[in-house]
Parts: sequence; structure tokens; C-alpha cells
Amino acid sequence: MTDFKQLEQTYEFDVYPKREIVLVRGKNAKVWDSEGREYIDCVAGHGVANIGHCNDRVIEALEQQARQLINCPGTFYNDTRARLLEKLVSIAPKSLKRAFLCNSGTETVEAAIKFARFTTKRKEFICAMRGFHGRTMGAMSATFNPEYRKDFEPVVEGFHYVPFNNFEKLAEKVNDQTAGVILEIVQGEGGVHVGRKDYFTKVRDLCEERDLLLIVDEVQTGFCRTGKMFASNYFDLEPDILCVAKAIAGGLPMGAVLCSEKVEPPMGKHGSTFGGNPLACAAAIAAIDYMVENRLDEQAREKGDHFVGKLSGHAFANVREIRHLGLMIGIELKEKSTPYLAKLMEKGVLALPAGATVLRFLPPLTISYEEMDFVLEKLTEVLLGKN
Ligand SMILES: Cc1ncc(COP(=O)(O)O)c(C=O)c1O
Repeated sequence: MTDFKQLEQTYEFDVYPKREIVLVRGKNAKVWDSEGREYIDCVAGHGVANIGHCNDRVIEALEQQARQLINCPGTFYNDTRARLLEKLVSIAPKSLKRAFLCNSGTETVEAAIKFARFTTKRKEFICAMRGFHGRTMGAMSATFNPEYRKDFEPVVEGFHYVPFNNFEKLAEKVNDQTAGVILEIVQGEGGVHVGRKDYFTKVRDLCEERDLLLIVDEVQTGFCRTGKMFASNYFDLEPDILCVAKAIAGGLPMGAVLCSEKVEPPMGKHGSTFGGNPLACAAAIAAIDYMVENRLDEQAREKGDHFVGKLSGHAFANVREIRHLGLMIGIELKEKSTPYLAKLMEKGVLALPAGATVLRFLPPLTISYEEMDFVLEKLTEVLLGKN
């Protein structure tokens, strides 16, 4: 049999630390490796598979659209894209009236930075410590952890980092060059830290007072992950710019930057060849319909409470804190998470890290209670050091 691991090791440009398995198939919350082993997938493509892997509605939409039109640049109108744009705006916070479509999370942040500089004619941004916004130059410059930036300097100028959930420190950083504030509602890569309502309310008011654009990065928290369609909905927060990606198109690459009427479009000065392609748009329409019809927001809330509720019954000596919003779950350990992740994988559960000491679980929101209880059983064994 072909050794796919060997082929990737030989031919792939090495940027990813790899897990030792070759994933070849997925359905809903399960994935299978090349040796036929089954896993409950709480990585879910790093929070992409909110509606599960290979969702039937998405498959049907893709098959149909693939026969009709796969690519159509943004310089032409397109029926499928038009329907998606209308749908996106209808589910977004009501301040947001239009969307720019692209292909990934980092691209949404790049676009947001350009739109904010273009609109305000100012160049600086205030971001949060532990925040993560992507790996391209602009998004990386908005990202706090110096490990992501230090080998690639000079980064884009004008980004300041302040402690998350601390309004006073953020307010102190505003100056006459500040274009906007860029924040996640729940910091994902930074360790699953949940933002407070009073903090976001004050930041929103400050942006109003000082004429700054509030850019909210919901690339990871969007599309029911936290128990609401967008985590902003918990606070009735009305961003000026909302960045979404990951789960938007049922597994296909897509990002969207939703903008309020305050944001001026730089006509002819931004764009993307693949952005808003009909294939991804068809998948996104199917994925969003599925989320809405199956109340995945409620499911994420209930399942998240079930998951964390069951864990809270134990006193684990190696756990510092458990944090979550919906099915975005972080377990902060008193030691490194890597050996725990390896043991979970041996037991048939895939989970991911968030920083060095946090175990993160981002299962499909369609995971069954039985599958969740399997994950909890294995996690408990691993945390108690049982083989
Ligand atoms: C909050 C947030 N913003 C941006 C990104 C970057 O997204 P992408 O990997 O699709 O470029 C991520 C990825 O994890 C993220 O969690």
C-alpha cells in the first residue's frame, strides 16, 4: 500500500508539526485513518466542521453547483453569491449591511485592516494580549504572541497590545492615529479565554466616542460554536467590522468580512480571485441553512454545559481551570498538554492544544451525547493517568 505519510514527509514543505496518523475519511463527528481506526474528532479541522464532516446537505449543494458554475470572479454578478450575501447579512448583528468574501480567516483580518485604514485615514490598531488573528503579514502583526512574529520582522507597523478584558488599559492606548480595535470575543488560540460583557460594552462606547472602528474577529467563535450564531450576540454587540471564516462553508475554504455603513469600500483597491466563488457560496448557503434549521446554537449551549458539567464532578490534580462558551472548551493543565493529546489519540479521541498547557475541544456541534460521553470517559482516564 502507498505510504502516504512518507510521501508527505518527502514532498511537503515542512511547516506543520504532524500527528502520526493519515486521515482518509470523515462523517459527522467521526474520522478514520488509513488503517481503518476510528476517532471522535474534537479538532474538527481546527473548528471548521461545526455541522460535521461531509454533511449531506453540503454534498448535495456542491454536486449541483459544480455542474452549473464553479468559478466566477467578483467582477461579475452571480446568482449563488447573491443569495449567500443576503443570507449572511440576515443572520449577522444588525449593524452589518454588506460583506466582502474571501477564502480564509487571515484574509478577513487583512481586509479588515485595509478597510479600517482606508475609512479612517489613520493607521494604528489596538489588539489584545493572547489574541490570535492569522499568519499573513497584517493579521500576524495584530497577533500578540511574539513567537509567531519574531522570525519574520519587520511586521506591519502600528499594532499595540493591551491586556484582554481590561478596559482602562485599552482606553489609555487610544491616540489620534488609532483607526480601530481588533478583538476576539473568546480568545481561541490564546487558551479559550472568554470576554466579559461589561468590557465589550465599554469598548463599543469608547469606539463611538473616539470615532474608532470596532473590528471583531469571530473566525473561530462564529456559526454557533459558542452557543449563539455569533458570540457577539451574547452581548448584543454591534461591531463595525465582523470577520468570519472556518465553519462558514461546511468545510470549504471561505472567509467573509461583514461591514457596517460606517466602513467605506475601497472600490477597485481590494479583491480576491477566488473570493465569493459559486462553489464555496453554495456550500455556505447549505451549511448556514443546516445550522439554523437544526438549532445548532442551542445544541452547542446544551452540549457544552453537558461536557463541562460532567468534568466538573471530578477533582483533577493536574487541572488548573476549565473554561468554555458553548462547545468551545479549554482545559488548562498545570503542565504541558502534548503528552495528554497523544494519549487521547491512542484512545480514539482527537483534540488540539491552545498554547502550551491548554487542551482544547472543538467538536462538531452535531456530535451525539453518546460520542461526547466516550470523549469524556477517555479524557477522564487520561487526566487521572490511567492507561
Ligand atoms: C480568531 C482567529 N482569527 C484568524 C484565524 C486565521 O484563520 P485561517 O487559519 O483560516 O487563516 C484563526 C485561526 O485559527 C483564528 O482562530
